[in-house]
Amino acid sequence: MMYSEKVMDHFMNPRNVGEIEDASGVGTVGNAKCGDIMKVYLKIEDGIVKDAKFKTFGCGAAVATSSMATELIKGKTIEESLKITNKAVMEALDGLPPIKVHCSCLAEEALHAALWDYAEKNGIVIEGLKKPVNDISEHDEVPAEDY
Ligand code: FES
Repeated sequence: MMYSEKVMDHFMNPRNVGEIEDASGVGTVGNAKCGDIMKVYLKIEDGIVKDAKFKTFGCGAAVATSSMATELIKGKTIEESLKITNKAVMEALDGLPPIKVHCSCLAEEALHAALWDYAEKNGIVIEGLKKPVNDISEHDEVPAEDY
């Protein structure tokens, strides 16, 4: 069996699919090699992640890791959120095949991109948070003819 039961469960029944209309932070990341895209919405109140949702256009592991990453971040403080690394997501899913590790990295980056957006919108600096390299949020605003 290539995938753990947990991966299959989160792929078949993904948690937190959708969007948050008045999100505190939204992050969109993409992997240029596989073309997969993840968008994460966070609702943050009093420094706590109250809600998280995602939309993922990608492989099964990308869906499963987005599902688990959004599950893990709910209820966390911003500081705790930064500890949700791709490794933590993989561990929570009982592992991923080596060729699918990059999918979990995309999930980590999507969380970071949403936190980055939240920090920017509120003019704050989140200690230890770097702008994800695969953050493609800005491209959303680029008119099609500029491509
Ligand atoms: Fe690229 Fe899964 S194959 S995110």
